Amino acid sequence: MGNQCQWHLWLVLAITCFVSQNYVAGELERVHLKAQPRNGNSSKGDGFLGFLVVGDWGRKGAFNQSRVAFQMGKIGEKLKIDFVVSTGDNFYDNGLNSQHDPAFLQSFTNIYKSKSLQTHWFSVLGNHDYRGDAEAQFSPFLRQIDSRWFCLRSFIVNADLAEIIFVDTTPLVKSYFLNSDNHTYDWRGIIPRKRYITNLLKDVECALRESTAKWKIVVGHHAIRSIGFHGDTEELVNYLLPILKANNVDFYINGHDHCLQHISDTNSRMEFLTSGAGSKAWRGDMKKQRREGLRFFYDGQGFMSLQLSQFDAHIAFYDAYGTVLHTWNVWKPIFHSSM
Ligand SMILES: *[C@@H]1O[C@H](CO)[C@@H](O)[C@H](O)[C@H]1NC(C)=O
Ligand SMILES: *[C@@H]1O[C@H](CO)[C@@H](O)[C@H](O)[C@H]1NC(C)=O
Ligand SMILES: *[C@@H]1O[C@H](CO)[C@@H](O)[C@H](O)[C@H]1NC(C)=O
Repeated sequence: MGNQCQWHLWLVLAITCFVSQNYVAGELERVHLKAQPRNGNSSKGDGFLGFLVVGDWGRKGAFNQSRVAFQMGKIGEKLKIDFVVSTGDNFYDNGLNSQHDPAFLQSFTNIYKSKSLQTHWFSVLGNHDYRGDAEAQFSPFLRQIDSRWFCLRSFIVNADLAEIIFVDTTPLVKSYFLNSDNHTYDWRGIIPRKRYITNLLKDVECALRESTAKWKIVVGHHAIRSIGFHGDTEELVNYLLPILKANNVDFYINGHDHCLQHISDTNSRMEFLTSGAGSKAWRGDMKKQRREGLRFFYDGQGFMSLQLSQFDAHIAFYDAYGTVLHTWNVWKPIFHSSM
């Protein structure tokens, strides 16, 4: 495993950024993906970047998880993807109970077996992951079992052409802290919540402000905009969205609602992309309100791909048969400054 990885993974710890005189950020770990010269004539290392996005998946193959996984393998091969992004809710119903939980093998290693998927998997946690031992998913032990796995609360993947900032959105959602849903959450490392959120938002702002990448992408579990069952996440609309807009983020990518969805922001160039259809779907719940900017909604299983060059981005959504359901192109103005 890992032999197919054409990118070298570098971990750079303790990046510091001075946002203001009083605050020193630096909690976000940074992963550098460096193109390796390859034998033969692969498309990589020539300024293109491609990856798949799947969310809300870990059900030991059930609810079409295996079917989606198989099609991800086929599309991944075709697009010569560089890595996979997971938008969280990695293990149902209650995350992993420890780093030894067999669900890791049953829902991840043994399901995503295709050759093209034997590459880095960058994952955030979803609310269901917080119902188990949240920290188990960060354990280096899991990377020994399956070297593809990379999960942290919040981190940055720098792939030259794009900078992808992974944001731990669950602690931002207040209702999980009110015990109103009778679930217990693993808040070790999160409480006091206010301080955690303040630092997180500053880290995200700092990372975006410093980024000189052509494409700026932010990934979280919860939606900013969604017409699915959970709808918009108020806390993200209020606290995260203004930071993303101020820093010209191109794409916000999430899961949480078990659907595929594309909404264009009505007053900026940002696209909201939901890929949360890795297993259980077909909830049959679509909200009628706030439909402005809606380009596409699919209530069933599937996944998404994103292909980037200096000049354009190509988005595609696929169902459980690998059929393309929706595509979208975004062009970068040639003289666009990302600063
Ligand atoms: C590159 O790929 C094409 C098509 O697969 C092939 O015809 C060509 O010989 C390859 N070139 C090299 C240098 O491998
Ligand atoms: C699996 O996918 C097929 C095709 O979309 C769908 O008809 C079927 O209902 C799905 N099964 C489940 C359990 O969601
Ligand atoms: C939570 O548990 C209490 C006590 O068992 C029960 O009365 C209440 O209905 C439950 N709430 C939910 C949302 O399930």
